Amino acid sequence: MPDTSSLSQLAQAARAARASAYAPYSKFRVGAAVLLANGEIVTGANIENASYGLTCCAERVAMFAATAHHPGVRITALAVSAGDDHVQHDSDNGRMPCGACRQVMMELMPADAPIWIDGVGEPSLSSLLPTPFKLRTDT
Ligand code: THU
Repeated sequence: MPDTSSLSQLAQAARAARASAYAPYSKFRVGAAVLLANGEIVTGANIENASYGLTCCAERVAMFAATAHHPGVRITALAVSAGDDHVQHDSDNGRMPCGACRQVMMELMPADAPIWIDGVGEPSLSSLLPTPFKLRTDT
């Protein structure tokens, strides 16, 4: 389990990663950071597209980059910071990871990995996605 100081470093990395968002359509910047078992931090930000459905969330950019660049190295924690100074949050729900990202977390992170959501708290992965889609991988 990562210590408090690496988790607070991870939170700062997620906040800083908002600056890398490419979000000309929504203007809603999201930064994410994952901590790896080897101590490295990999960040991501949301990347939008004129063909809106091609947009990729910050969380997935971070998890996919970590998995691609550090194959076989476990993700031990995830931090997310969402929002924009010009966008009003109706509620904390506007800061929560979307369903697609939750499913990817379930695949690429241990179920007990700490998750930190800026302005919201530290929900468990199983509370975010109690009934994930799973396939057997042992055949
Ligand atoms: N977004 C994320 O980056 N993460 C989420 O979990 C939800 C939404 C992004 C996608 C899009 O660029 C913007 O937020 C507005 O939906």
